[in-house]
Amino acid sequence: ATTEPRIFKGLAGVPVDVTAISMVNSDTNSLLYRGYPVQQLATRCSVEQVALLLWDGELPTPERLAEFQLEERSNRALAPNVLRAVDDLPLTTHPMDVCRTAVSILGANDMDAGSNSTAHNLRKARHLFAQLPAIVAYDQRRRHGLALVEPRNDLDYTENFLYMTFGAVPEPEVVAAFRTSLVLYAEHSFNASTFAARVIASTLSDMHSAVTGAIGALKGPLHGGANEAVMYTFDEIGTPDRVAAWLDETLASKRKVMGFGHRVYKHGDSRVPTMRAAMVTMLEHFDRPDLLEMYMNLEEAMAARTGILPNVDYPTGPAYHVMGFDTETFTPIFVAARVIGWTAHVSEQLAANALIRPLSVYVGAAQRDLPA
Ligand code: SDX
Repeated sequence: ATTEPRIFKGLAGVPVDVTAISMVNSDTNSLLYRGYPVQQLATRCSVEQVALLLWDGELPTPERLAEFQLEERSNRALAPNVLRAVDDLPLTTHPMDVCRTAVSILGANDMDAGSNSTAHNLRKARHLFAQLPAIVAYDQRRRHGLALVEPRNDLDYTENFLYMTFGAVPEPEVVAAFRTSLVLYAEHSFNASTFAARVIASTLSDMHSAVTGAIGALKGPLHGGANEAVMYTFDEIGTPDRVAAWLDETLASKRKVMGFGHRVYKHGDSRVPTMRAAMVTMLEHFDRPDLLEMYMNLEEAMAARTGILPNVDYPTGPAYHVMGFDTETFTPIFVAARVIGWTAHVSEQLAANALIRPLSVYVGAAQRDLPA
């Protein structure tokens, strides 16, 4: 008898291509962006420097960085038809759907929409990077009945992102914690949304289609959507003393605890220590010992009961909450950062492309004919 081919459900553990962009190492619990440990980049580099590192493969020279900052700052404002498209969406539209829709309009507006050249794709990447914060910020404000805040070109990417959202630049400690989260979120090898982008790029479709597909994948609670789900979990638990009872009930009903576990990291997510430190700083800065207690209790209870450790979404949720972001805005922030990784992977896929088209094993009805 023919041996049944083995199925690799979820492609778990299956290497499907090489990449030079980042290395996720479960054994050493480390993450390198083009060879640099992310822990060093997240506390010492700007988002702009890390974006150029991931796209170009090298940290930028001062001249290259200055040139990019000029281009990024002059491309932040949203075109009228993008604002109209966002305004046409019901206020109840999930912000990830607002992002997906807005990126489609950006694609329609792009004068090189029909070109897949390396130069055009890198320029599209830089413009998506520049414009996503404005989309994320405007959508949060419109849900609160607040007017659009135009970008300020005297602010760097991170400060301007916060300024467009809240109408003011917060204290340097808050800017630093937000910057750290964006660098940590920027790239993570073949995660589901990045792989979705590569599948779309592999058919020689276009950059905006690839990013739109990636946004759809990131929205799911098993992936990027987990950071917003962490806050829903805290709300469901109520008070820190109810963590143990809640967890017993949750695990007994085989529900997943959002913000915990990882497909690749089995000894903890390499980004958590850095983001956890930033989160603790934020909870102290905004005087929220109650949230810190909730965070610690659930982390300890999960470790004690399951041995399952937090992933990067767990500390990010509370940090974004105290900064003032709406919970449903958390994953769009992830989009704004991960667009760097998605676009770098689209370019890499195209540079040595092979159409991504796996096999399936048929288990349906045996061949049969229609009734005469
Ligand atoms: C991100 O891939 C990436 O790199 C993603 C990401 C990135 O930067 O792009 O790192 C960002 O998406 C982080 C993950 C965010 N998702 C969540 O926090 C959702 C909760 N996590 C789980 O759904 C789960 O841990 C996954 C999806 C993240 C990973 O799942 P796997 O590798 O498929 O492992 P699994 O679901 O098979 O779990 C193995 C066992 C199972 O128990 P059994 O069914 O074998 O008895 O562990 C259990 C699971 O039930 N388990 C959990 C759990 N995670 C795993 N049980 C409760 N809560 C959890 N969070």
